[in-house]
Amino acid sequence: MRPLQILPSMLASDFSKLGQEVSDIMGAGGDIVHLDVMDGHFVPNITFGPDVIKAIRKCTDKPFDTHLMIAPTDSFLEAFAKAGSDYITVHAEAGPHVHRSLQAIRALGKKAGVAVNPGTPEDLVEYLLDDVDLILAMTVNPGFGGQSFIRPVLEKVRRIRAMVGDRPIDIEVDGGVTADNAGDCAKAGANFLVAGSAAFKGGPNAYAANIETIRKAALLGRGELV
Ligand code: DX5
Ligand code: ZN
Repeated sequence: MRPLQILPSMLASDFSKLGQEVSDIMGAGGDIVHLDVMDGHFVPNITFGPDVIKAIRKCTDKPFDTHLMIAPTDSFLEAFAKAGSDYITVHAEAGPHVHRSLQAIRALGKKAGVAVNPGTPEDLVEYLLDDVDLILAMTVNPGFGGQSFIRPVLEKVRRIRAMVGDRPIDIEVDGGVTADNAGDCAKAGANFLVAGSAAFKGGPNAYAANIETIRKAALLGRGELV
Protein backbone atom coordinates (compact mmCIF):
# COMPACT_ATOMS: atom_id res chain seq x y z
CA MET A 1 0.00 0.00 0.00
CA ARG A 2 1.25 3.48 -0.82
CA PRO A 3 1.70 5.83 2.16
CA LEU A 4 -1.32 7.67 3.49
CA GLN A 5 -1.08 11.46 3.10
CA ILE A 6 -3.45 14.10 4.48
CA LEU A 7 -3.57 17.22 2.28
CA PRO A 8 -5.09 20.35 3.83
CA SER A 9 -6.77 22.47 1.16
CA MET A 10 -5.83 26.12 1.62
CA LEU A 11 -9.17 27.11 0.05
CA ALA A 12 -10.70 26.70 3.52
CA SER A 13 -8.07 28.85 5.23
CA ASP A 14 -8.21 32.52 6.18
CA PHE A 15 -6.83 34.22 3.04
CA SER A 16 -6.07 37.40 4.99
CA LYS A 17 -3.16 35.52 6.62
CA LEU A 18 -2.46 32.84 4.04
CA GLY A 19 1.26 32.39 4.79
CA GLN A 20 0.61 31.95 8.50
CA GLU A 21 -2.19 29.47 7.74
CA VAL A 22 0.17 27.37 5.59
CA SER A 23 2.73 27.21 8.34
CA ASP A 24 0.13 26.56 11.07
CA ILE A 25 -1.73 23.76 9.27
CA MET A 26 1.47 22.04 8.15
CA GLY A 27 2.97 22.42 11.62
CA ALA A 28 -0.21 20.75 12.90
CA GLY A 29 0.49 17.58 10.90
CA GLY A 30 -0.58 18.18 7.29
CA ASP A 31 1.56 16.14 4.90
CA ILE A 32 1.18 17.99 1.58
CA VAL A 33 -0.32 21.45 0.86
CA HIS A 34 -3.28 21.27 -1.56
CA LEU A 35 -3.74 24.40 -3.68
CA ASP A 36 -6.96 24.98 -5.61
CA VAL A 37 -6.50 27.12 -8.69
CA MET A 38 -9.80 28.25 -10.27
CA ASP A 39 -10.34 30.41 -13.32
CA GLY A 40 -14.05 31.33 -13.37
CA HIS A 41 -14.33 29.51 -16.70
CA PHE A 42 -13.67 25.80 -16.15
CA VAL A 43 -15.31 26.18 -12.72
CA PRO A 44 -17.69 28.90 -11.48
CA ASN A 45 -15.23 30.46 -9.04
CA ILE A 46 -11.88 32.29 -9.07
CA THR A 47 -9.08 31.80 -6.55
CA PHE A 48 -5.36 32.47 -7.03
CA GLY A 49 -2.53 31.90 -9.46
CA PRO A 50 1.20 31.14 -9.55
CA ASP A 51 2.35 34.37 -7.88
CA VAL A 52 0.41 33.56 -4.74
CA ILE A 53 1.78 30.01 -4.72
CA LYS A 54 5.30 31.35 -5.13
CA ALA A 55 4.78 33.75 -2.22
CA ILE A 56 3.71 31.00 0.21
CA ARG A 57 6.32 28.46 -0.93
CA LYS A 58 8.64 29.64 1.84
CA CYS A 59 6.08 28.98 4.59
CA THR A 60 6.73 25.21 4.77
CA ASP A 61 9.25 22.64 3.55
CA LYS A 62 6.47 20.16 2.76
CA PRO A 63 5.38 19.42 -0.85
CA PHE A 64 2.85 21.48 -2.81
CA ASP A 65 0.02 19.76 -4.71
CA THR A 66 -1.46 22.18 -7.25
CA HIS A 67 -4.96 21.29 -8.44
CA LEU A 68 -5.63 23.20 -11.64
CA MET A 69 -9.31 23.84 -12.32
CA ILE A 70 -8.54 25.95 -15.36
CA ALA A 71 -8.96 25.67 -19.13
CA PRO A 72 -6.84 25.86 -21.12
CA THR A 73 -4.04 24.54 -18.95
CA ASP A 74 -0.91 24.08 -21.04
CA SER A 75 0.21 27.69 -21.34
CA PHE A 76 0.25 28.00 -17.52
CA LEU A 77 2.05 24.78 -16.56
CA GLU A 78 5.53 26.27 -16.56
CA ALA A 79 4.48 29.13 -14.28
CA PHE A 80 2.97 26.70 -11.75
CA ALA A 81 6.08 24.53 -11.90
CA LYS A 82 8.35 27.54 -11.32
CA ALA A 83 6.14 28.74 -8.47
CA GLY A 84 7.18 25.65 -6.53
CA SER A 85 4.54 23.00 -7.18
CA ASP A 86 5.68 19.41 -6.66
CA TYR A 87 2.52 17.84 -8.09
CA ILE A 88 0.48 19.49 -10.83
CA THR A 89 -2.95 18.05 -11.60
CA VAL A 90 -4.98 18.86 -14.68
CA HIS A 91 -8.60 17.92 -15.27
CA ALA A 92 -9.35 15.27 -17.91
CA GLU A 93 -12.35 17.44 -18.87
CA ALA A 94 -10.31 20.63 -19.31
CA GLY A 95 -9.35 20.05 -22.92
CA PRO A 96 -8.89 17.56 -25.74
CA HIS A 97 -5.16 16.93 -25.12
CA VAL A 98 -4.77 15.79 -21.54
CA HIS A 99 -2.02 13.36 -22.54
CA ARG A 100 0.03 16.25 -23.88
CA SER A 101 -0.51 18.22 -20.65
CA LEU A 102 0.69 15.28 -18.55
CA GLN A 103 3.80 14.89 -20.66
CA ALA A 104 4.48 18.62 -20.34
CA ILE A 105 4.21 18.44 -16.54
CA ARG A 106 6.70 15.58 -16.38
CA ALA A 107 9.01 17.39 -18.78
CA LEU A 108 9.03 20.25 -16.26
CA GLY A 109 10.29 17.76 -13.67
CA LYS A 110 7.05 17.63 -11.69
CA LYS A 111 4.70 14.82 -10.72
CA ALA A 112 1.75 14.70 -13.09
CA GLY A 113 -1.83 14.24 -11.91
CA VAL A 114 -5.10 13.79 -13.78
CA ALA A 115 -8.42 14.68 -12.14
CA VAL A 116 -11.89 13.41 -13.01
CA ASN A 117 -15.14 15.10 -12.02
CA PRO A 118 -17.84 13.08 -10.22
CA GLY A 119 -19.75 12.45 -13.46
CA THR A 120 -16.71 11.39 -15.47
CA PRO A 121 -16.11 7.64 -15.80
CA GLU A 122 -12.79 6.09 -14.82
CA ASP A 123 -12.22 4.82 -18.39
CA LEU A 124 -10.88 8.25 -19.24
CA VAL A 125 -7.69 7.53 -17.34
CA GLU A 126 -7.18 3.99 -18.66
CA TYR A 127 -4.76 4.95 -21.41
CA LEU A 128 -2.97 7.49 -19.24
CA LEU A 129 -1.73 5.10 -16.56
CA ASP A 130 1.89 5.19 -17.71
CA ASP A 131 1.83 8.99 -17.88
CA VAL A 132 0.53 9.85 -14.42
CA ASP A 133 1.84 9.87 -10.87
CA LEU A 134 -1.51 10.78 -9.34
CA ILE A 135 -5.19 10.21 -10.15
CA LEU A 136 -7.69 12.51 -8.46
CA ALA A 137 -11.30 11.36 -8.17
CA MET A 138 -13.36 14.45 -7.30
CA THR A 139 -15.88 13.66 -4.57
CA VAL A 140 -17.71 16.99 -5.16
CA ASN A 141 -18.21 19.09 -8.26
CA PRO A 142 -15.16 21.35 -8.31
CA GLY A 143 -15.48 25.06 -7.59
CA PHE A 144 -16.25 25.43 -3.91
CA GLY A 145 -15.24 24.15 -0.51
CA GLY A 146 -17.70 22.94 2.08
CA GLN A 147 -19.87 20.75 -0.18
CA SER A 148 -21.19 17.29 0.66
CA PHE A 149 -19.23 14.17 -0.24
CA ILE A 150 -20.71 12.29 -3.23
CA ARG A 151 -20.68 8.65 -2.09
CA PRO A 152 -21.04 6.85 -5.46
CA VAL A 153 -17.54 8.09 -6.31
CA LEU A 154 -16.22 5.48 -3.86
CA GLU A 155 -17.06 2.78 -6.42
CA LYS A 156 -15.06 4.71 -9.00
CA VAL A 157 -12.11 4.87 -6.58
CA ARG A 158 -12.28 1.07 -6.21
CA ARG A 159 -12.22 0.68 -9.99
CA ILE A 160 -9.30 3.09 -10.36
CA ARG A 161 -7.45 1.21 -7.61
CA ALA A 162 -7.94 -2.06 -9.53
CA MET A 163 -6.89 -0.45 -12.81
CA VAL A 164 -3.70 0.98 -11.29
CA GLY A 165 -2.53 -2.42 -10.02
CA ASP A 166 1.04 -2.17 -8.76
CA ARG A 167 1.98 0.95 -10.71
CA PRO A 168 3.50 3.72 -8.56
CA ILE A 169 0.40 5.93 -8.72
CA ASP A 170 -1.20 7.76 -5.81
CA ILE A 171 -5.01 7.94 -5.70
CA GLU A 172 -6.50 11.15 -4.35
CA VAL A 173 -10.00 12.10 -3.20
CA ASP A 174 -11.02 15.73 -2.89
CA GLY A 175 -14.26 17.32 -1.71
CA GLY A 176 -16.33 16.81 1.42
CA VAL A 177 -13.74 14.51 2.97
CA THR A 178 -14.23 14.27 6.75
CA ALA A 179 -13.41 11.83 9.55
CA ASP A 180 -16.81 10.24 8.82
CA ASN A 181 -15.89 9.11 5.30
CA ALA A 182 -12.06 9.05 5.41
CA GLY A 183 -12.13 5.37 6.38
CA ASP A 184 -14.31 4.50 3.39
CA CYS A 185 -12.05 6.52 1.07
CA ALA A 186 -8.96 4.71 2.30
CA LYS A 187 -10.69 1.32 2.16
CA ALA A 188 -11.69 2.00 -1.45
CA GLY A 189 -8.05 2.63 -2.30
CA ALA A 190 -7.38 6.35 -1.92
CA ASN A 191 -4.12 7.22 -0.16
CA PHE A 192 -4.12 11.03 -0.72
CA LEU A 193 -6.99 12.59 1.25
CA VAL A 194 -7.65 16.29 0.66
CA ALA A 195 -9.48 18.06 3.47
CA GLY A 196 -10.55 21.69 3.43
CA SER A 197 -13.36 22.45 5.87
CA ALA A 198 -12.64 19.39 8.00
CA ALA A 199 -9.00 20.41 8.47
CA PHE A 200 -9.55 24.11 9.15
CA LYS A 201 -12.73 24.04 11.25
CA GLY A 202 -12.44 25.61 14.69
CA GLY A 203 -9.35 27.71 13.92
CA PRO A 204 -5.63 27.14 14.54
CA ASN A 205 -6.01 25.57 17.97
CA ALA A 206 -8.10 22.78 16.46
CA TYR A 207 -5.90 22.01 13.41
CA ALA A 208 -3.77 19.27 14.98
CA ALA A 209 -6.80 17.44 16.38
CA ASN A 210 -8.72 17.82 13.11
CA ILE A 211 -5.90 16.27 11.07
CA GLU A 212 -5.27 13.54 13.62
CA THR A 213 -8.95 12.54 13.60
CA ILE A 214 -9.03 12.29 9.79
CA ARG A 215 -5.74 10.36 9.75
CA LYS A 216 -6.94 7.88 12.40
CA ALA A 217 -10.19 7.24 10.53
CA ALA A 218 -8.25 6.62 7.31
CA LEU A 219 -5.74 4.33 9.00
CA LEU A 220 -8.64 2.34 10.45
CA GLY A 221 -10.09 1.99 6.95
CA ARG A 222 -6.72 0.76 5.69
CA GLY A 223 -6.60 -1.81 8.49
CA GLU A 224 -3.46 -0.18 9.89
CA LEU A 225 -5.04 0.75 13.22
CA VAL A 226 -7.19 -1.44 15.39
C1 DX5 B 1 -13.13 21.97 -4.60
C2 DX5 B 1 -11.66 21.88 -4.26
C3 DX5 B 1 -11.38 21.23 -2.97
C4 DX5 B 1 -11.95 21.92 -1.76
C5 DX5 B 1 -12.23 20.91 -0.71
O1 DX5 B 1 -13.26 22.42 -5.90
O2 DX5 B 1 -10.97 21.16 -5.27
O3 DX5 B 1 -9.98 21.02 -2.80
O4 DX5 B 1 -11.09 22.90 -1.22
O5 DX5 B 1 -12.88 21.53 0.35
P1 DX5 B 1 -13.80 20.69 1.33
O6 DX5 B 1 -12.91 19.67 2.01
O7 DX5 B 1 -14.32 21.72 2.29
O8 DX5 B 1 -14.87 20.05 0.52
ZN1 ZN C 1 -8.84 20.55 -4.86
